[in-house]
Amino acid sequence: MQRIPVSGPWITQKEIDYVADAAANAWYADANIYHARFERAFAEYLGVRFAMALPSCTSARHLSLLALGVGTGDEVIVPDATWIASVAPVCYVGATPVFADIDPETWCLSAWSLEECITPRSRAVIPVDLYGNVPDMDAIGDITRRHRLAVIEDAAEAIGSEYRGRKAGSFGDTGTFSFHGSKTLTTGEGGMLVTDREDIYRRAAVLRDHGRQPGDTMFFNSEIAYKYKMSSMQAALGLAQLERIEELVTRKRQIFDWYQRELADLRGVKLNHEAETTKNTYWMVTVLLEPELGVRKEQLIALLAERGIDCRPFFHPLSSLPPFASSEQGKIAQIRNRVSYGISPYGVNLPSGLNLTEERVAYVCDALKTALRPRSQRVIAATPALHA
Ligand SMILES: Cc1ncc(COP(=O)(O)O)c(C=O)c1O
Repeated sequence: MQRIPVSGPWITQKEIDYVADAAANAWYADANIYHARFERAFAEYLGVRFAMALPSCTSARHLSLLALGVGTGDEVIVPDATWIASVAPVCYVGATPVFADIDPETWCLSAWSLEECITPRSRAVIPVDLYGNVPDMDAIGDITRRHRLAVIEDAAEAIGSEYRGRKAGSFGDTGTFSFHGSKTLTTGEGGMLVTDREDIYRRAAVLRDHGRQPGDTMFFNSEIAYKYKMSSMQAALGLAQLERIEELVTRKRQIFDWYQRELADLRGVKLNHEAETTKNTYWMVTVLLEPELGVRKEQLIALLAERGIDCRPFFHPLSSLPPFASSEQGKIAQIRNRVSYGISPYGVNLPSGLNLTEERVAYVCDALKTALRPRSQRVIAATPALHA
């Protein structure tokens, strides 16, 4: 059997046709036809006014912070357990990241911890929709409104997810998406900034094009800025994927259901949570091992690799990583963030690529059970079976 990859896209003839058409025709005066269609369809899908196609989610967050005027002397609160791209742009603009803890059920930003992190220097919050889940947006919205904090939602992993019927990515002053090759909707590399705020959209439009006004034909630069653009071939791929978004999201949820069924009788493990308020799109099906099993993420990843199965570790707490570990905020977070530090060593992202079949999921689950069963039988009988 071929190795089972941890992630990967679902590309059909539609995507190939759109990209081929862009390569043949989207030049000169038509250079932006696919961007315009992709952005319009994306804004409509999200239920927001503006969408801007960009080269990455990281650039979308960078532009968001710049457009909001966040900079030196400001603090920006981010969850401790996430990919470094959530926080790196905070450092690009010279602001200080403050690492809040995550919720033990959703694995997303804890509203309670967020409130604890607020100081007079706090300017913005970056809630992350981790692994396709959504944090408690009611509680977070209440806190950010009371403290007048800007919200930049990191929905990189959560296209199609919902909270109380509203789409992930539409909750903040801006929402930021990734279309990296591992994502549910991919353009190879790519991203999108969405917002309802015209001032942010207009400012980002100048900042993303070397300080030129949109539509400028005189090549006039009013300031030093950035070059953050997506190619037409990527926009064409994104449009085709977006036209198939229900199919893609349904497949993701189907993959999670297969895992949930296969692992239902395995004690000592827990999968991604879905609250009643939320539609989780399970970007990465993630297994969390009870510490009593005595198996850490590195060991399980190595055991599954021997069976030809590629997995990923749950994100390391950002505050534990070299860029932050010895900073003042890093040290505070290492003590404060019990949940992030409790979960991270025991979480493994299982193969979740869109080309998975039910048989392959069964194979992965069999390997997982073989790796864990001798240990899971020792876990106290009182431990509830899998609860997702
Ligand atoms: C939570 C999160 N934020 C941000 C990003 C960054 O996305 P990009 O690589 O498109 O900048 C990713 C992508 O892996 C992510 O998972």
